[in-house]
Amino acid sequence: MIKGRIVGTGSTTPKRILTNKDLETIVDTTDEWITRRTGIKERRISSNGQGENTSDLATSASLKALEMAGVSADALDMIVMGTVTPDRQFPSAACLVQKALNASKAVAFDVSAGCSGFLYALSVATNAIATGNCKNALVIGAERLSTITNWEDRSTCVLLGDGAGAVVLTPTTEHDGILSTHLESDGSFWNLLYASNGTYKIPEILDTVEGKPFYVKMEGNRLFKKAVECLADIALVALEHHGLSSADITLMVPHQANLRIIRAAAERLSIPMDKVYTNLQKYGNTSSASIPIALDEANQEGLLKAGDYVLLVTFGAGLTWGASVVKWSV
Ligand code: COA
Repeated sequence: MIKGRIVGTGSTTPKRILTNKDLETIVDTTDEWITRRTGIKERRISSNGQGENTSDLATSASLKALEMAGVSADALDMIVMGTVTPDRQFPSAACLVQKALNASKAVAFDVSAGCSGFLYALSVATNAIATGNCKNALVIGAERLSTITNWEDRSTCVLLGDGAGAVVLTPTTEHDGILSTHLESDGSFWNLLYASNGTYKIPEILDTVEGKPFYVKMEGNRLFKKAVECLADIALVALEHHGLSSADITLMVPHQANLRIIRAAAERLSIPMDKVYTNLQKYGNTSSASIPIALDEANQEGLLKAGDYVLLVTFGAGLTWGASVVKWSV
């Protein structure tokens, strides 16, 4: 059986750092509140005209992943990007990346699945590889949430950030790679997290942010509980599918929404926190970008070696959630 295997990772975040202290000048909040309730200390905010559009960040992350993989852009058959903040409503941000990379042979498209966008995209790509129709795939998660953030809403603006991550997949017939992906959705909870039409004022210290006429609305409390439940349940489904226990996992790389959500899910799964990768302290919640950025940083830090079992697990607007067991192969 053919599967996709990860042979390269890359990530790029905008240069500008917005700290919790900076946020104290924008909304009625404190560094202490944000740190205690979320674990986040700072986030990256992209600037207009600085080569930091969603497709720019995605292209930069992709070039790093392609270089690590030793795969040239013209050998790509597919580019699939999870994003809810493409540069434009259309064409897809993936098509803009295709142009920037000169990946002329690839079919390119975006996937919209809230913060689960990267895992959904990974599933599409690895399934395409399994059919034999696609050989080399570039899977991206990239976001500029700052452009759809309501900077007057302290319950959401402190959580979000911008960035991009990417992986390159090639086919394998060995017992390695993306062993499986498990996805779920429940549209009946769409109104716990959504983009609302409207306009908002961008604070002076963020005057380089380009606002779009819609912004994030969230029912944080109910979402918190659903997130913990869905993350733990889908992770168990993925582990049981392979007859694995949490003790077999070298590293869990969860969607980086809130440290308390991650801790609670890890506890339900009996996975100790030293086996859970977190970097939300530096980036906040970057939606579709959070897992591929975390995966790349864990890889760059040498935390993963060939043969390790890695558990990816995510949750987002839709509601959508999912998990994947990866036998590491980079
Ligand atoms: N600074 C200071 N106070 C804040 C604040 C902020 N940034 N945001 C909210 N508060 C206040 C609230 O107004 C409320 O005040 P009140 O008690 O006077 O009404 C109080 O803090 C508690 O609010 P609550 O919403 O109950 O806090 P919480 O512990 O649930 O934490 C979240 C809020 C948003 C951090 C938390 O609910 C969360 O992380 N939810 C999930 C979010 C998520 O994962 N979203 C993305 C999914 S992909």
